[in-house]
Amino acid sequence: MKDTLILAIESSCDETAASVVKNGRTVLSNVISSQIELHKLYGGVVPEIASRKHIEKINQVICQALEDAKVTLDDLDAVGVTYGPGLVGALLVGVAEAKAIAYAKKIPLVGVHHIEGHVSANYIEHPELEPPFLCLIVSGGHTHLVIVKDYGEFEILGRTRDDAAGEAFDKVARAIGLGYPGGPKIDRLSKEGNPDAIAFPRARVGDCPYDFSFSGVKSAVLNYLNNAQMKGEEVNKADIAASFQKAVVDVLVEHTMMAAKDHGMRKIAIAGGVASNGALRDAMEKACEKNRFQFYRPSPIFCTDNAAMIGAAAFYEYQKGTRHGWDLNAVPNLKLGER
Ligand code: KG4
Ligand code: ZN
Repeated sequence: MKDTLILAIESSCDETAASVVKNGRTVLSNVISSQIELHKLYGGVVPEIASRKHIEKINQVICQALEDAKVTLDDLDAVGVTYGPGLVGALLVGVAEAKAIAYAKKIPLVGVHHIEGHVSANYIEHPELEPPFLCLIVSGGHTHLVIVKDYGEFEILGRTRDDAAGEAFDKVARAIGLGYPGGPKIDRLSKEGNPDAIAFPRARVGDCPYDFSFSGVKSAVLNYLNNAQMKGEEVNKADIAASFQKAVVDVLVEHTMMAAKDHGMRKIAIAGGVASNGALRDAMEKACEKNRFQFYRPSPIFCTDNAAMIGAAAFYEYQKGTRHGWDLNAVPNLKLGER
């Protein structure tokens, strides 16, 4: 069979990224231009600045991705692009760029759901992984527990009722003065702390056992800090970070194991920025080993936002016949499973 080469573009938040992916599984190039240094100054992503930076960087990033992959635009079979969810101005830059290339080269345009991209990151380094499997998706904006029934087909078992897991990491990091982005900083600091030092709550959501809620643990950390401050006591930031992280990881692993057993799923994958968290990866691996489940996880570079995962997802959409028109728009609140 002839190889399918897809140029993928990702610009939904603060990373301008482009990648060339062969047959959905082989990454020929993966270029990521991060804006973190810029947004750090403001303690979070500033949408207007993100859009402007994407415009500045996108052509360079695409040229680099083609060069690294040793291909030209003429070698491509399709262009894949994230069209939602995300920041509207940021998404529009990638969507407009993808349309221009697809139109000029007369090749198909395939719009990709960002979260479908995160899930598909698992296909890159696990050639044997095929649906169905259970996937925990934990990013800055989303927390979902889904059965991947087929490529691009999801049954959502659970979701967060309030904050996303990554959002909770970012907010707690800010509260203890670690700055943005919080997740990696909590991950690092936790290694010096005692995860059993402080008993933060593990929230259960009564009516849906697979749903998540992280606002309780976040408030518990804030209360802990306020109490200490009022009493004039020093706090141990590493212990707070490690104890908070353990509270979140415990719930993520517990719900995933419960869902796997209830639904007879023996293959478990994780995805999204928080899936690069060391404690989560270790705990999930141990739990899978104990239950004799097969565990899949992307390397950290494919967990946080990148275009290779969009290329993997775009390939399976392309194979299914998904084609978008020149009227493709950015959809900031695109739901999983919607087209
Ligand atoms: O998937 P992602 O790059 O972007 C979204 O689609 O949201 O996820 C970003 C989120 C941020 O909240 C960030 O703090 C978190 O992932 N994150 C981490 C780690 N690396 C990134 N959280 C915990 N531990 C990490 N090592
Ligand atoms: Zn993401």
